[in-house]
Amino acid sequence: MKIDRNAPVGVFDSGIGGLTVAREIMRNLPSEKIVYFGDTARVPYGSKSKETIIRYSRQIIRFLLEQQVKAIVIACNTASAFALDAVRDELSIPVLGVIESGAVVAAKETKNKRVGVIGTIGTVGSGIHESCLHRLDPEITVIGKACPLFVPLVEEGWLHDPVTTQVAERYLDELKEKEIDTLILGCTHYPLLRSTIHEVMGDGVRLVNPAYESALELRSVLKKEGLLRQEGQKEEFPYRFYVSDLADKFKSFANSILPYNVEMTQKIDIEKY
Ligand code: DGL
Repeated sequence: MKIDRNAPVGVFDSGIGGLTVAREIMRNLPSEKIVYFGDTARVPYGSKSKETIIRYSRQIIRFLLEQQVKAIVIACNTASAFALDAVRDELSIPVLGVIESGAVVAAKETKNKRVGVIGTIGTVGSGIHESCLHRLDPEITVIGKACPLFVPLVEEGWLHDPVTTQVAERYLDELKEKEIDTLILGCTHYPLLRSTIHEVMGDGVRLVNPAYESALELRSVLKKEGLLRQEGQKEEFPYRFYVSDLADKFKSFANSILPYNVEMTQKIDIEKY
């Protein structure tokens, strides 16, 4: 099958968090078109089982294929951890997750070979970062910590708030004691708490943002496959947004973080797929 290089990239997440990944794609691959799907009816994914996340991911992928995307980015860390391996072989277009690219950078950056990973209960419990990092360098010690309260704090808009700092201190003190020098922000929402996390962890800890690294990985995959759109190509409406519930909340969050004004989101019944 010949894939159309002018087709959009499909990006999906459990809800609004994956917009941090879409944002990096917009910034770093400005010629690419995006179809974004946020599963706002079934969020959160972070506390659900692997089987459920694989089922949800397959449904969303069927929807995105119907939109004729040329590649898919699983922007959700939990879905990347649980579903990427299961769906990769089922597709004839490139599909990327957000775990590997962050792990590659962390393995390169760490000097003392002590890397922390924060994410949802599902992502941290899956041990996926540990196996990725050990494949890259068996000497790296990986310390994981689930930080489930970070997601609602971000969705509440409390990005710079004493309550958020207090919660961050409580979660991250343990990682500080373990003397990590690199920390992977292994959840879509966490790049938005970057300054609070930096404040708590201090200058000695390098923060890895997989959203950014994944956008760079997407560029190199598209380039390798001959699927990059020509630079400078512009569209009037390059980005389309779909959700499974509550489009208004999604829209206001999107407009608060994206370098693009989201005027319309469309609600679809994902259970039909
Ligand atoms: N998008 C999810 C992730 O990156 C966080 C929100 C959720 O639990 O669904 O793991």
